[in-house]
Amino acid sequence: MRGNSVLLIIGGGIAAYKSLELVRRLKERGISSRAILTAAGSQFVTPLSVSALTGEKVFEDLFSLTDEAEMGHIQLSRSADLVVVAPATADLMAKLAHGHANDLASTALLATDKRVLMAPAMNVRMWNHPATQRNVKTLKNDGVIFVGPNDGEMACGEFGPGRMAEPDEIADAVERALSEKGGALSGVKALVTAGPTQEPLDPVRFISNHSSGKQGYAIARALAEAGAETTLVSGPVELVPPARVKLLKVQSAREMLAACESVLPVDVAVFTAAVADWRPEIAANSKIKKTDETSSRALNLIHNPDILATISRGKKRPQLVIGFAAETDDVIAHAKAKLVKKGCDWIVANDVSPHTGVMGGDRNTVHLITAKAVESWPELDKREVGTRLAERVAQTLHGQAA
Ligand code: C5P
Repeated sequence: MRGNSVLLIIGGGIAAYKSLELVRRLKERGISSRAILTAAGSQFVTPLSVSALTGEKVFEDLFSLTDEAEMGHIQLSRSADLVVVAPATADLMAKLAHGHANDLASTALLATDKRVLMAPAMNVRMWNHPATQRNVKTLKNDGVIFVGPNDGEMACGEFGPGRMAEPDEIADAVERALSEKGGALSGVKALVTAGPTQEPLDPVRFISNHSSGKQGYAIARALAEAGAETTLVSGPVELVPPARVKLLKVQSAREMLAACESVLPVDVAVFTAAVADWRPEIAANSKIKKTDETSSRALNLIHNPDILATISRGKKRPQLVIGFAAETDDVIAHAKAKLVKKGCDWIVANDVSPHTGVMGGDRNTVHLITAKAVESWPELDKREVGTRLAERVAQTLHGQAA
């Protein structure tokens, strides 16, 4: 950890005194700190004590000419390897969740290109308030890392979650975040497809399926968190795109193929999308009228391009191509056949029978099928499936056995 530095934002809360201890604990681990003290924070600890511990000037004011002459606020936000907010008050969290930038701390949080780690501290009702919980969810989706809060008795006399994590716990989380900084996949380019496609019948109707996009979004997030430069080509879904992922939204299979091809070359491609196998032969330019109530209407469907097979066999084939197989019976046998048919390196196979709740759900049970082996993973959260897959991708691209 030697040589790493954090930008520590000290918010206003009784836990601010623990942040002084945090600075010492980080120093013991070879991590230096530079601090921003909010106006509220300075009601609890003095700039002098923070400065004495960090051995650096403390930054307090967005509009200080002296500070800006020494180091502009944008530069300050990027000067460290990690931004740590401790204590992270409900207000600081709300500001970042909503993109406010009206003081030095919130501006630095918005301007930084580094990861942000928050150690919340507040009254238990404030923590449990739906507004705070909404903000936590938004921030997590944006890639913010959280440590704590812990349960316990609070300075205000109430009991429950809201106590800031202890300095050693925060220092551990800082070390973990810093060790991920380089990322097992840094320098790697990744492409992920996700969600369903919609195949237009006319301007108001389409053929589609129930894919939620959750698994593909989780994979894109995990690849990006491991440091890969990740593009996510997504069909129509209602999900918030993960942080640091380039999102290309498409509607039909043909648009998805074109978007994927525009992203090549990449090192690894994961085809999670539930691409519609067929599309209406003719997509009418105006709404198809109902003629009479009794007659039936034929719909002629033609095959869509197979994106996975096209890219697996194309000139710009990525080094590692991973397909998905959503099956309802004989999952492994069908998936093995698919590996050969599509020309990809791995297939991630899952049982999507309605009783499994995989389609649209948060959990998944998958088998990883390579040319050599079948690995069955336990039932996992879709995010965990993403993380494990990203780890396997990193091992393989770095030359370890698949
Ligand atoms: O043939 P099947 O649809 O079961 O194959 C599933 C795999 O192929 C998935 O990885 C899916 O993203 C991909 N696929 C595709 N283009 C299609 C159909 C499937 O990329 N038209």
